[in-house]
Amino acid sequence: MRAGSKLPGTRLMAETLNIHRKTVVAAYDELKSQGWTDSIPAKGTFVCSALPVIEKQPFTNNQLLNSEKNVSGFSFTRKKHLEFTELKRERGSIYLGDGLPDSRLSPIKEIAVEYRNVLKLNYNQDLGYDSIYGNLYLREALLSYLNETRGLSINIDQILITRGSQMGIYLASRLIVSDAKELIIGETNYKAAIDAFNETGAKIYTVEIDKNGIITDQIESLCKKKNVSAVYVTSHHHHPTTVSLSPERRMHLLALAKTYQFAIIEDDYAYDFHYSNAPILPLASNDVHGNVIYIGSFSKTIAPAIRIGYLIAPKDFVKEAAQLRRIIDRQGDVLLERTIASMIKEDLLKRHSKKLIKIYKTRRDLFCKLLKENLGNYLNFDIPDGGMAVWVLLDKKYNWDLIKKMAERSGLIINDWRRYDPFFKGHNGLRMGFSSLNEEEIRKSVSILKNVFQKLN
Ligand SMILES: Cc1ncc(COP(=O)(O)O)c(C=O)c1O
Repeated sequence: MRAGSKLPGTRLMAETLNIHRKTVVAAYDELKSQGWTDSIPAKGTFVCSALPVIEKQPFTNNQLLNSEKNVSGFSFTRKKHLEFTELKRERGSIYLGDGLPDSRLSPIKEIAVEYRNVLKLNYNQDLGYDSIYGNLYLREALLSYLNETRGLSINIDQILITRGSQMGIYLASRLIVSDAKELIIGETNYKAAIDAFNETGAKIYTVEIDKNGIITDQIESLCKKKNVSAVYVTSHHHHPTTVSLSPERRMHLLALAKTYQFAIIEDDYAYDFHYSNAPILPLASNDVHGNVIYIGSFSKTIAPAIRIGYLIAPKDFVKEAAQLRRIIDRQGDVLLERTIASMIKEDLLKRHSKKLIKIYKTRRDLFCKLLKENLGNYLNFDIPDGGMAVWVLLDKKYNWDLIKKMAERSGLIINDWRRYDPFFKGHNGLRMGFSSLNEEEIRKSVSILKNVFQKLN
């Protein structure tokens, strides 16, 4: 209706629409209080004369097509480096992922019990805004947990709770290497971290990885020529190749960090899962000059859906990171943080990871044995000392794309090899995660792959 035009009387409107008059009166009152209409005593209700005149819109096919708002009516920045294709996960298919925990083993009952206790004990106290550093109970629990299990000697001001390792990587990247500051990473490395470094505008240099991890001599050569601000490492189990950084290189890297005053961003994403010996203590445990930013989470020990991680660094850096995090995510999930704190304090987490190590070791052994027996002619790999995946190099005669397609038809989903070769080195490698599959699924996966290779030959 045009501005200034008169609405039918309430009685007429009720008759026309076949509804009760009281309903019409209520609707007219609501329109008036929202400012759409004016009522003039003894004259009636009018469309507010101040409203702009809206052109009549023809109902076109275009409108129909865009009725779900697929296309924005404004411009915005699109970033090629953030393009991400979700893996299709069909029910019933087996996912030979990147090295994920088996969600079926997650301590969901224990989480439920602790969560209820937190709600009961604290009534409404934990429902407000909390510290930007994360919930204090969790920080206290982490303080003793990390000092004890990782050989750290940190204090409470060095802990920032994050929504997972990825948030820690992003914060570190934004604060240290944004605006074309220089960063070194392995020439094969964790794609989501590389995406974060690209997003923040880092200038990236790559160095090679061998059986002893990232080659620190190459880092030293680069440091002599460039102004390196940070080195990103997955020292415990290099992602994707799974190798551990050797003790000599650890000492070398820490010494370089001191000399050239760069940060070591140490992403320890699967600390608990080391099978041949005890987990190797992180670089952070030897960091006497304040160069290491230690990042971890509970994604692998509990489940990726539990978005809780931590960033450990010198106090001044943690303060800055907490302030930066605040502007995109005021705080984490306080109730969940308190729940995980209770699980740590009651040793539930330690008991759970002990149980998982045994199960995942058995799965690793079975997967590697079957892979060697059935696919040893096509695939080359070492049995990983730790982690949740095997780094598999495919004979260069073959191509992963075709294998992936054929495997998918038989219900086996494997990752896209491209995410493991971000700098186009042509190694033909791919990670195959064994931890999320039970024995039957492991046998089925290898059997599907075997059939695929038989068809290819
Ligand atoms: C090397 C590495 N770093 C970090 C992460 C991120 O883990 P989250 O953000 O779930 O803690 C992963 C996840 O798979 C990973 O493989």
